Amino acid sequence: MSQRFFEQVQHAALYAKARPNAPPQLAERIINFLREKFQGELELCLDVGCGNGQCSGIFASSFRKVLATDISPAQIEVAKTLEYPQNIEFQVSPAENSPAENGSAQLVVACVAAHWFDLPAFLKDADRVLCKNGVVALTSFFLPIVVHATKSNELNAELKRFYFEILGPYWGSGIRHLENEYADFSIPYAETLRDEVWSDEEPYTLARLAVDLESWSGYQNMCRDKGESAGREVLQEYISRCLASLGTKDDPAKVELKLQRKYFLLMGRKL
Ligand SMILES: C[S@@+](CC[C@H](N)C(=O)[O-])C[C@H]1O[C@@H](n2cnc3c(N)ncnc32)[C@H](O)[C@@H]1O
Repeated sequence: MSQRFFEQVQHAALYAKARPNAPPQLAERIINFLREKFQGELELCLDVGCGNGQCSGIFASSFRKVLATDISPAQIEVAKTLEYPQNIEFQVSPAENSPAENGSAQLVVACVAAHWFDLPAFLKDADRVLCKNGVVALTSFFLPIVVHATKSNELNAELKRFYFEILGPYWGSGIRHLENEYADFSIPYAETLRDEVWSDEEPYTLARLAVDLESWSGYQNMCRDKGESAGREVLQEYISRCLASLGTKDDPAKVELKLQRKYFLLMGRKL
């Protein structure tokens, strides 16, 4: 069964504001694997569970067309308001039944999304859509790594506490696949490969990190269950604990740190 947590327009807008774009080096790694056996034109990349296009953009310069699909009309509505290259087309569609034609795509990619799908049904549809030697790539990151001159350990511990202790009961069951980096996912092709790609360290502020946490589906589920003010309270507590760890009373918008993400990657080639 697929799980749907991103349906509200306000959640989709927050998503656009807070979520990171996938790093270009992720596209390079996936295309290098594809190019080991596919030498023809790169006509179509199908980006499934595209959100508002966080991963679609990195494939636009390599493929003639990127078809970016998501089951949430709200996510697609917001995606269409953002500035993306003209060769990206956004469409509402379930991962398990894409609008792409048989054998039309060289790449089917799902970024921070496959753990919400009905995986066997999605992989079956990906197989239908891929051409010979085409590649299906499932990728995601789990928690970002907080990088700080002196307090990295403390800040990473606070992030883990927020994820596991505060939001623990509010995560959908699919999230456990992120915690184990898709270790229990497999692609039924003879040739598969696991790898990882690190994003560059990105300058952040504590306030911006808190907005990122707000976009997490576990946080949104908590607000639906206990109300917005309970959500505000735990976010405020998170910020206060981070400020205490840093030994400062500064405005969180002025507290600088960096974030880095490890994108784990499982790829399979359709021979
Ligand atoms: C965490 S977001 C990831 C968005 C984007 N790919 C990124 O890299 O940030 C997961 C997305 O998967 C979509 N999704 C969940 N289940 C789906 C399904 N069965 N079919 C298509 N999209 C789905 C959600 O609507 C949501 O936009």
